[in-house]
Amino acid sequence: MDVLEKNSITEEITGLIEQFGRDRSSLLPVLQGVQRKHQHISDFAQQEIARLLDIHPVEVYSVISFYSFLHSKPKGRNTIRLCKTIICDLLGKNEIEEALERELGIKFGETTNDKNITLEYANCLGMCDQGPALIVNERVYTKVTPQKVIEILNGIN
Ligand code: FES
Repeated sequence: MDVLEKNSITEEITGLIEQFGRDRSSLLPVLQGVQRKHQHISDFAQQEIARLLDIHPVEVYSVISFYSFLHSKPKGRNTIRLCKTIICDLLGKNEIEEALERELGIKFGETTNDKNITLEYANCLGMCDQGPALIVNERVYTKVTPQKVIEILNGIN
């Protein structure tokens, strides 16, 4: 990130703080503002938010980690979320996890180099009787098998 980019991020954050107020309760709306514009909140943006709100950077990071809609790393155009809750776990979640990681060449929490797909875990998707379940963007897939993983991925690319 060059100096100009850094300056423009600092300016944006300053604008958001002017809009929402310079206190701790502004942290979430400021984070949402940065996320909306950049699809993630970079390390530099986190430091600047902490500095300008006069709070500890760890506090900023812990809020980002707490909310699943905030991200500290850039995400792909598509997100696959695999249910990691107990029923899907018992129904073969691990096999699906391995198939996804193998086919995409990335681990959960990572994004493919072409920024097409991000792999994440999800909590129960409400389809426990039809697990293992996963969700691609808004679409839910049930009774997923390693073979079905390949078909699902082919449908995204
Ligand atoms: S446990 Fe996976 S959908 Fe409920």
